Formats: sequence, structure tokens, C-alpha cells
Amino acid sequence: MADFLAIWFLLHVLLHANGSLAFWEEEKIALLKLKDVLNYPNGTALSSWGGKEMDCCKWERIGCSKLTKRVTKLSLNRTRQIELHDKDFFIESSLFLPFEELQELRLDGNLITGFNGVLRLNKLQILDLSYNSLTEIPSFNGLESIKFLRFSSNRLKNLSTFQELTTLRGLEMLDLGYNDIAGEMPPSIGAMTSLKSLSFRNNELNGSFPEEGLCNLRSLQELDISRNSLKGSIPPCISNLTSLRLLELSENNLEGTIPSDLLSSLKSLEYLSLSLNHFEGSISLSSFANNSNLEVLELDSLNKELHVYTENTTWKPLFQLKVLRLSNCKINEPTRSIPSFLLTQHDLRVVNLSYNSMVGELPAWLLINNTKLEFLSLAQNSFTGQFVLPADSKDLDLFWLDVSKNDIQGPIPASIGHIFPNLLYLNMSRNSFQGSIPHSIGNMNKLRSLDLSSNNFTGELPEHLVMGCKDLTMLRLSHNKLQGQLFPKRWNLTRLQVLYLDNNLFSGHLLPGLLTSSSLILLKLSDNSISGKLPDWIGEFSFLRSLSASRSFFRGPIPVGFCRLVQLSFLDLSWNSLSDNIPSCFNLSALKYLHLQGNELSGPLPRALYGSSSLVTLDMKDNKLSGKIPTWISLLPNLRNLLLKGNNFIGSIPFQLCQLQNISILDLSSNSLSGPIPSCLNDIPFGRKKAHDQTFETDEYGWTLYSPFMTYEYQSVLRVNQYVEAGFYSSDVAEEIEFISKLRYESYTGSILNYMSGIDLSMNKLIGPISPELGFLSDIHTLNLSHNQLNGSIPRAFSNLKQIQSLDLSNNKLSGGIPPEIVQLNFLSVFSVANNNLSGRAPDRKAQFATFEASSYEGNPFLCGLPLQETCGRSTAASDPNPGEIDDEIDDLFKDAFLETFVPSSIVAFLGASAFIYFNPSCRMLFQFVEAKLLSSR
Ligand SMILES: *[C@@H]1O[C@H](CO)[C@@H](O)[C@H](O)[C@H]1NC(C)=O
Ligand SMILES: *[C@@H]1O[C@H](CO)[C@@H](O)[C@H](O)[C@H]1NC(C)=O
Ligand SMILES: *[C@@H]1O[C@H](CO)[C@@H](O)[C@H](O)[C@H]1NC(C)=O
Ligand SMILES: *[C@@H]1O[C@H](CO)[C@@H](O)[C@H](O)[C@H]1NC(C)=O
Ligand SMILES: *[C@@H]1O[C@H](CO)[C@@H](O)[C@H](O)[C@H]1NC(C)=O
Ligand SMILES: *[C@@H]1O[C@H](CO)[C@@H](O)[C@H](O)[C@H]1NC(C)=O
Repeated sequence: MADFLAIWFLLHVLLHANGSLAFWEEEKIALLKLKDVLNYPNGTALSSWGGKEMDCCKWERIGCSKLTKRVTKLSLNRTRQIELHDKDFFIESSLFLPFEELQELRLDGNLITGFNGVLRLNKLQILDLSYNSLTEIPSFNGLESIKFLRFSSNRLKNLSTFQELTTLRGLEMLDLGYNDIAGEMPPSIGAMTSLKSLSFRNNELNGSFPEEGLCNLRSLQELDISRNSLKGSIPPCISNLTSLRLLELSENNLEGTIPSDLLSSLKSLEYLSLSLNHFEGSISLSSFANNSNLEVLELDSLNKELHVYTENTTWKPLFQLKVLRLSNCKINEPTRSIPSFLLTQHDLRVVNLSYNSMVGELPAWLLINNTKLEFLSLAQNSFTGQFVLPADSKDLDLFWLDVSKNDIQGPIPASIGHIFPNLLYLNMSRNSFQGSIPHSIGNMNKLRSLDLSSNNFTGELPEHLVMGCKDLTMLRLSHNKLQGQLFPKRWNLTRLQVLYLDNNLFSGHLLPGLLTSSSLILLKLSDNSISGKLPDWIGEFSFLRSLSASRSFFRGPIPVGFCRLVQLSFLDLSWNSLSDNIPSCFNLSALKYLHLQGNELSGPLPRALYGSSSLVTLDMKDNKLSGKIPTWISLLPNLRNLLLKGNNFIGSIPFQLCQLQNISILDLSSNSLSGPIPSCLNDIPFGRKKAHDQTFETDEYGWTLYSPFMTYEYQSVLRVNQYVEAGFYSSDVAEEIEFISKLRYESYTGSILNYMSGIDLSMNKLIGPISPELGFLSDIHTLNLSHNQLNGSIPRAFSNLKQIQSLDLSNNKLSGGIPPEIVQLNFLSVFSVANNNLSGRAPDRKAQFATFEASSYEGNPFLCGLPLQETCGRSTAASDPNPGEIDDEIDDLFKDAFLETFVPSSIVAFLGASAFIYFNPSCRMLFQFVEAKLLSSR
């Protein structure tokens, strides 16, 4: 046979010599043209083309047929040196005409904008145009042999030219992922019955699930429509696609129940992801029992409405999972036990069981049984017991371990750093761990984020940790009982950006070891027993955005070094014994939150604040500041919270204050302010214009937490590059599954202060009547004017304070009657007019006023009626006829409104609260970093 072929070939060459040479020559010329085009204007790629070597089959990136010596494969992926280009790049389709036998053409990663003319390559089987800049699917004609088409990661916006694709009757793989395709999936897709793999991942498809057409594709083995905006439920006809091996529908807006026969009829499933949708109802994992190929199962819920049962029947899985993600579900309610089938699994790489409120002993055996684990999150459950680790294992691949927010007790095993030397992320916060922090953590020299906060750790910071974990960008040890002096000289955390050491027992003076961490963005030292002066060297951290050192024993002035912290956006030095005043060189241009309350600062309101256009919160209460409230206060246009309580301010309240249009909390109480209350105060919207600042994100400590849905992605290989590696004809789907790791970051947006608004002017020497204009502060929640010398009557307009929850007018010299309309204040829960000269009838005991007792009214000798003892005599004319008829209506209104909008009583205490919103860019940076790292190590 071989002989015959050789002879045939010889004859062939001899007979057709001239012709053959002609098309070889033609191909060669075309190649050189292509090289020029791809290198234009001055690229240097494809250097072997056109050199000494005459046989173009020996040039790089070219494959030829052995028989005919004609070009069959052009791997021109990532050829253009695109950094040289910023213009549109169109390729002439005719350049490819001479390659009549071309079977594979790879042009991915060249920033191609489009093709001029129609592509005509009728032997072509593989065309890869991914990672270009195509805005539409190129026109072609005669691609009748095509099997694999990739257009992923382009800029396709619609499928107006999609119809042409549906004529490709041999097409087996179509990848349209990572584009901007909007609208519905075209039903004409149903014509592409030979499709085995279809991806629309990461587009903007909307509408309901594309049942029409899609369910015709009976050969489909891989279907990826994840990361779109599909609505509605999964249609039952999907269970007809019995060849499916991969079904990826995560991150859409799908809802409804998951069809139960979906699982049992799709026997070939290897990969099922329905994560991050809005499914409800229940699903029993026993229906997968016979899916022996299942390797990836992802059901993370967004709405926590999905019940997952694993114990309802006795079943034995035939599968060995590699990835299991079941976070934020309702697992095995009501027992909430950990799925027992996990005991049979020993090949797991990724396990996310976070946010499930599961109970029982911490399933540490997951780590022992599955030595290939890379990602394990058991965060936010109620697991108890100790954290036990396999004594004999070592050097495991685990890079992510999160057991935060459980109830784990006892020490962390001393060997942890030897067992998991590859961790990048370790979170054991919010448990009941005790003992010291193991030295071996210093072995984790890849660690980027370590969170051991909110436990019961004692002892000092291990030196091995602060020397060995040299890649740490975040270290959080808050809320423990750690002690010792900060910061040791031996401190090697050069990449540290975020450091929380608050709420511990650290003591002594601050030592400058921390200076090694010159990239620090956030430093939180509050609630310790640190003493001495605030060190000047803190000024060296030129990237610092947030500094808190509150509630310690710092003394002396705020150092001049702080003037160098030009990026500072949050500064909290409250509740120390700092004295003098803010240095005048302070540059506060970036400062948004300034907390200096509870110190011994003296002098006038610091001039350094003049014109601080970013300032949102200025809290200077309980200091020894004096002088007048400066009129330049109006130059703080973004000020939302102004708290000057408990100082020695004198003079009158400047009307310029009324120009602060964003104020929602104003506390000037306990000073020696005199004069009248400016009636212009009602110019301030006080909550009528809600200040939303989307860039602020909070958690209960005021800082961004990582999302529960931090994912570690796992993908089948076919969609990626398998077909190229496996060569032309293996349209067989890959047998091997590989990891693609990618971490996704999400965050919550908090809205702590949006509801709060109030004025406290109590304990001053204010005089004059209360201006009726204050009744227009219709969104205010708290108004306290008590302990002044106000006279005149209570304005009738106060019945307009519809949102008010606390109203205190006590201890003044108010006279006249209490306006009866005041009973219309349906949210009022604190009310006092005690110790004035009011007279007449107390308000009707209706709605909220039924709850106020005599103490609200006492000390007004001429006031009568319940709840007071004095009954009203005949002569005690009520100050006004009672509009009692509308009371029932108000009652109903009250009930509804109360249920809907009552904001908890914390509002009453808001002036003492220090729940402020912080800004934290660093975590995002950290995760971009981790992501880049993981992608690059792929
Ligand atoms: C490449 O050519 C462009 C335009 O001709 C020129 O601006 C650029 O400097 C050149 N770059 C190099 C690396 O030669
Ligand atoms: C082109 O793709 C092939 C096959 O995936 C790969 O081996 C090669 O490294 C790629 N070349 C470039 C420059 O990216
Ligand atoms: C599955 O396909 C069969 C045959 O075309 C059809 O009769 C049946 O209704 C389909 N099942 C579903 C659930 O759509
Ligand atoms: C996993 O660990 C549990 C508890 O130690 C054990 O009962 C089970 O047999 C182990 N399973 C495998 C597959 O190793
Ligand atoms: C910390 O330990 C103390 C005493 O050892 C104990 O009373 C306390 O409950 C523990 N706190 C936590 C959060 O475990
Ligand atoms: C400190 O970190 C550097 C790299 O950042 C490393 O080269 C050095 O060995 C570390 N020192 C110690 C004592 O671990």
C-alpha cells in the first residue's frame, strides 16, 4: 500500500508539476502578504517567513498536508503586536483565497475589527476569531465543512447576521461567549441540529429561557448561557437534551422550581451549574444518584429560597464530585445536618457550603478525605467542636480556607502552617478559638489575606508570622485578647495594605517597626491600651486613607507629621486624651470622616477645616473647644453630620449653618450657645434630600467583607481549547476536565445613615420663641430643644413633623397650650414637655400619645387631664376644639405606616452612635491581585 502511494504521489507530482508549483508559489506569496498585513506598520512577528528556508511548510505556525504539501493550518493567534496599534484593523478576505486546502485558521487575539469581503474557505473546519474586536459576525460563503467556530470575546452586539450561521449544517461548536449580545436567543438556532457545544456565556441575553429552538438541539453536549439576564423558569423540554454533559445556567434571573426530571433524565451530566439565580422549591440530590459522571454541581442560591435535601432517601452516589457549591441554600431543613453523602467523596477540589446555617461538628474530615482540595468554605454555619487536622498530611494544595462565623472552639492546631503552606486566603474569624496564634502560620509564605478576628486568641503576635508571611496584603486580628507592644522591629510585611489590630490588649508606646509596611492604606488600632504620644512617623504612610486609634491612652498633641497624610479620608482618634488643637498645616482635602470626640482638644474650631470640601462627618463632641461657631462653617458643602456637643462654644448659632444643605445630623447640645434658634434651620432638608453615596460599602465593623459567593470557577475544557489540541477530527468531547480559576468579587452596599436625621440643641442658653418654621422639617426624626430658656408657645406647625420619633421640649419656659393636633405624630416614641409653664389640657390619649405617661408633662403647674392627676375644671378650656372625628382614620393609617416604616429605636440613640460608613478600596485591589495571580498561574 505504501509503495503504491509513493508511486502514485510521484506520478502525481510529475504529471502536475507545473500546476502544483504554481499553487505552492501562490500560497507562499499569500503568506508573505499576510505577514506584512499582520506586521503593519513595524511589527516583527513571523520572522521565519520568507527567510532562507524555501519550504514554507517549515515556517513557524504553519501546518501542511503531507500528501500535497499544501497549507492546511494557520496558527496566527496573537500575532500582531497589538501594543503598536490603536486603530481599526480590517483584513481583506481575499488574502485567504489561495489556501484551498486550509482546514484550521486561528486568528484569535489580533484585535481584528472586521473582514473586507466574503470569507470563502470550503475545506475549513476550525475558525477561531476570539479575542478580536468584531462588531458583527463576518460574512462567509462556502464554509460548508466548518465544525468549530469561535467568536468569543469580541464586541458583537446583536445577532443580525446570525441567520447565515444557521445554514452551517455541520457545525458542532459555536462559541459566542463574552460579547455584548442583547435581546433574545434567536429561535432559528433550532436549525443547527449538529451542534454539540453552544456558548452564550457572559452576554446580555434577556427574555425568558430560549426554549424554542434550543430544545431541538438533540446532539447538544455542552450548553452555557451563564451570566446573562434570562428570566422565567427552566422549561421541562431541557430534559429531552439527553446528551448534555455540561449545563451552565448560573448568574441569570431564572426563577421557579428546578424540574425534578431534569436531573434524572440527563444521565450524562458531568457539570451542572444553576448557581446565583432565584430558584425556589426543593431539590433532592438523591435524584442524581445514578449520574455516575457528575463532577461539578453548583446550586448556590441568591435568594436563600432553595431547599436542598440529601437525606430523604437512602442512596449511594455513583459519582465522585470535584466541585460542590451549595452556599446560601436551605440544606436539610429542619435538621440542617451536613449532607452525609459527602462521606463517600474523596476527589473534591472545590467545596463551598457557606451561608447555610448547618449544625453539627465541623466537618474537618472533608480535609482529611479529600487530599486534593483547593478551596473550602464552611463560613457562616453553626458548626461546633474543635478544628482537627490530619496529623500525617503535609503540603496540601489548599489555597482558600474559610471557616469564619461558626462556633469552633479550642486552639488552632500548631501544625497548620506545615499542612497548608499554599494558602492564599485564610479566614477563621468570628469563632471561639482560643490559645495563641500558631507560629507555623509564618510558614504560609504565599498568604495574602489572614483574618483571625473576633476570637479569643491570647499572647503576642508571633514573630514568625510577621516575618514569614511576607506577601500579606490584609491582616485582621481585631477583637481578640492579644497583647504586647506594637510594632516589633522585626516586621517583614512589606506588602501590607490593610491592618486591623483593634479591640485587643496591646499596650506600651508605638514603635516604628511598622514603617516596613510602606504601602499601608488602612490602619486600625482602636480599643487597645496603647499609651504615649501619637508617633510622628505615622506621617510616613503616604498612601494611608484610613486611620483609627480611638479608645486608647494616647496623650499630647496630634503630631505635625500627620500633615503629610494627604490621602487620608477617614481619621478617628476619638476617646483618647489628645490635647491642643489640630496642627494648622493639616491638609484635609481628601478627608471625609473626622472623629476627634472625647479628647481634650482646646482652642477654637480648627482653622485647618476651613474649606474642607470633602468632609461628611465632623465629630468634635466632648472636647474643650471654645469660641464661636465660625461663620466659615458654611464652606463645608458636603457636611452631613456635625457634632459639637459638650464643648464651650459661645455666641449665637450662625445663620450660615443653614447653608449646609446636606446636613442630616446637627448636635450642638451642652455648650453655652445663646440667642435665638435661627428660623432658617428649616432651609436644611434634613433627610428630605437623601444623601446616597454609592461608593461607600459597609459591614458591621464598617468595612467591606468579602462576598459569600466568592467563586472559584471550574470549567470543562471543550469550551476552551481542547479541540485545537486534540487535532482536527476529534469532535469527541474532551475526557479531561481542567481548572480555570478565577475569583469574583462582589460587595454589599450599606445604608446605615440614610434614615437618620435630627437636631439637638439642648443644654444651651438659647432664648426666644420656637420659630414655627421648624415645623417644616418634615423628615426629621429627632428634635431636642430641652434645657434652654425658650419661651412662647409650642408652634402648631409641629404637627407637620410627620417622621418625628423623638421630641423633647422639656425644661424651658414655654407657655400656652399644647396644640391638640400634635397627636397626629404617629411615629413619636419619646415625647416630653416637662418643666415648662404650659397650661390647658394634655393631648388626647390617642395613638402614640396613649403611651406617654405623666412624666412627659410634669412640672407644668397649669396642665391638666390624663395622664396627669389634675382633672380639668370647667374653666380649663381646651386650647382648641378637638378634631376628634378623623381619629379613627388616623388610627388605621398609623397601624399601616407603623408596620411599614418604623425605624428601630436605635434612632433615638443616634447621637451617641458611631456607626459611620467607611471606604475601602483595598480589598478590591487585593482581589484583583489574587485574580491576576491565579489567572497567570493557569
Ligand atoms: C512604529 O511605527 C509608528 C508609525 O509609523 C511609529 O510612530 C512608531 O514609533 C514605530 N514604533 C517602533 C517601535 O518602531
Ligand atoms: C497559539 O495557539 C496554540 C494552541 O493553543 C498555542 O500553543 C500557542 O502558544 C498560541 N500562540 C500564541 C502566540 O499565543
Ligand atoms: C421531548 O421530545 C418528544 C419528541 O419530540 C416530545 O414529544 C416531548 O414532548 C418532549 N418532551 C418535553 C418535556 O418537551
Ligand atoms: C471520610 O471520613 C469519614 C470520617 O472520618 C469516614 O467515615 C469516611 O469513610 C471517609 N470517606 C472516605 C471516602 O475516605
Ligand atoms: C473567651 O474566653 C473567656 C474565658 O476564657 C470566656 O468567658 C469567653 O466566653 C470567651 N469568649 C468567646 C467569644 O469565646
Ligand atoms: C523578609 O522578606 C523578604 C522579601 O520581602 C525576604 O527576602 C526575607 O527573607 C524576609 N526576611 C525574613 C527574616 O524572613
